[in-house]
Amino acid sequence: MMTRSSEPAATIATPSSQPWLHQRGHEIQAFGTVRQFPVALSQETRLYSCQRLNQLLADSQILFALYKKHHWLMRGATFYQLHLLLDKHAGEQVALIDALAERVQTLGGVAVGDPRHVAEITRVPRAPDGCEEVPAMLSRLLEAHELILGDAHDAAARVARLGDDGTNDLIVSEVIRTGELQAWFLAEHLVDTPLVRA
Ligand SMILES: [Fe+2]
Repeated sequence: MMTRSSEPAATIATPSSQPWLHQRGHEIQAFGTVRQFPVALSQETRLYSCQRLNQLLADSQILFALYKKHHWLMRGATFYQLHLLLDKHAGEQVALIDALAERVQTLGGVAVGDPRHVAEITRVPRAPDGCEEVPAMLSRLLEAHELILGDAHDAAARVARLGDDGTNDLIVSEVIRTGELQAWFLAEHLVDTPLVRA
């Protein structure tokens, strides 16, 4: 709590407009718990869905970061095309990340947000801090996509069996469809095809 009495009198604004700065508080909901929300889904179902959503959320946040890293580090003859494509995919991942996080909140849970917490949860392998060769960067992105897609297919089927249609819809319509499309666009850049003469 702010200690106004310790401030010099000359620096204190009128009491009604002085912000209460440097406040600290207790954690009011632990990560991995759900509140009771009246959405006609049991606490166990919402807990399970939040756990699966948070895994997808953590892995998608790492995928987003990998897209930005490779957008920045891209090089070579197709630099400009890939530089733009990877940034477009990063933007689409941001939209997906937001939808996943807000689904966790909708179910009464706590979305994983701090990048250091994300790093503890993700199963996407860490990239080297330096720059890899271009095909290796694209392969790394494809492998992250496949890991997320595999998890997404499993999660979508299981939450559907528990009756969580909203989470199933989000995972199928956004995580899976977006991921599959982005993987296609990446994979076509790994086809060794002549540029000018057949
Ligand atoms: Fe950029």
